Amino acid sequence: MDNIILTNLDNGVFTITLNRLDKKNALTSAMYLSLTEHFSYASESDDVRCLVIQGNENCFCAGNDLADFLNAKSDEELPAFQFIQRLASFDKPIIAVVAGAAVGIGTTLLLHSDIVVAAENAKFALPFSKLGLCPEAASSYLLPQMVGHAKAFELLVLGGTFDAQQALSLNLINQITSPGALLDTAQQYAKKIARLPSDAVMTSRALIKQSTQLAVSNAMAKEADEFGRLMQTQDCKNILQQFLSKS
Ligand code: COA
Repeated sequence: MDNIILTNLDNGVFTITLNRLDKKNALTSAMYLSLTEHFSYASESDDVRCLVIQGNENCFCAGNDLADFLNAKSDEELPAFQFIQRLASFDKPIIAVVAGAAVGIGTTLLLHSDIVVAAENAKFALPFSKLGLCPEAASSYLLPQMVGHAKAFELLVLGGTFDAQQALSLNLINQITSPGALLDTAQQYAKKIARLPSDAVMTSRALIKQSTQLAVSNAMAKEADEFGRLMQTQDCKNILQQFLSKS
């Protein structure tokens, strides 16, 4: 587990770096637990004014570790859902930094972020139905709000891959950079935010989010029930086994 998630605090900017690059930063249960702890620290610490979550200039996150999904027990609360709740209730600005794969939670966590910077090589996908699963992280509510029903259905149910230009035109991201400029660009945004009066920033953010908060938590509760049920279906298990047998 050592070094799979790295953190750094610099002048109010708390940076979390996913560092399981051999598995495209797929998130295991242990990684979710660690992320949840880091987000809690960032929320509680007066030293943190802005959080950055990143991989490197070639890879952000290939979503949930599919072996973990396959091995999940029907009666256990998934650490993924604990993290999603922590993410949705987080009270400081989040900057997400996307390069290469951004699959599943790698894309849905962007819907909870405040600034998203993506490299030209970013590839987004929400392949839930293809895996025999359903949307999570309130994406069934937030994505239609952002892009309309038809596009949300296309992205969440057909589950095709889309690139940084398409993500920009859908207003899912703020800026596209070259891979080499990605991490620096995100830090520039973070430093700008960290220099602003913290109370004003957090209050503004809370006001921007207030009208969606109840709907987000209702959607997450319903999604978690359905996701947990679908994970135990034979359709889902067969698809996951097929992916893992290729590894
Ligand atoms: N869970 C577990 N392992 C994963 C993974 C995941 N979500 N995503 C990638 N990996 C592993 C691969 O099995 C492979 O392992 P190996 O080297 O031991 O064979 C390694 O990471 C590299 O992945 P690979 O598929 O060779 O890289 P790629 O660049 O060709 O493709 C992806 C990258 C992300 C497009 C592809 O790996 C993928 O589709 N992953 C599954 C994504 C997914 O469905 N996530 C869940 C969403 S809910």
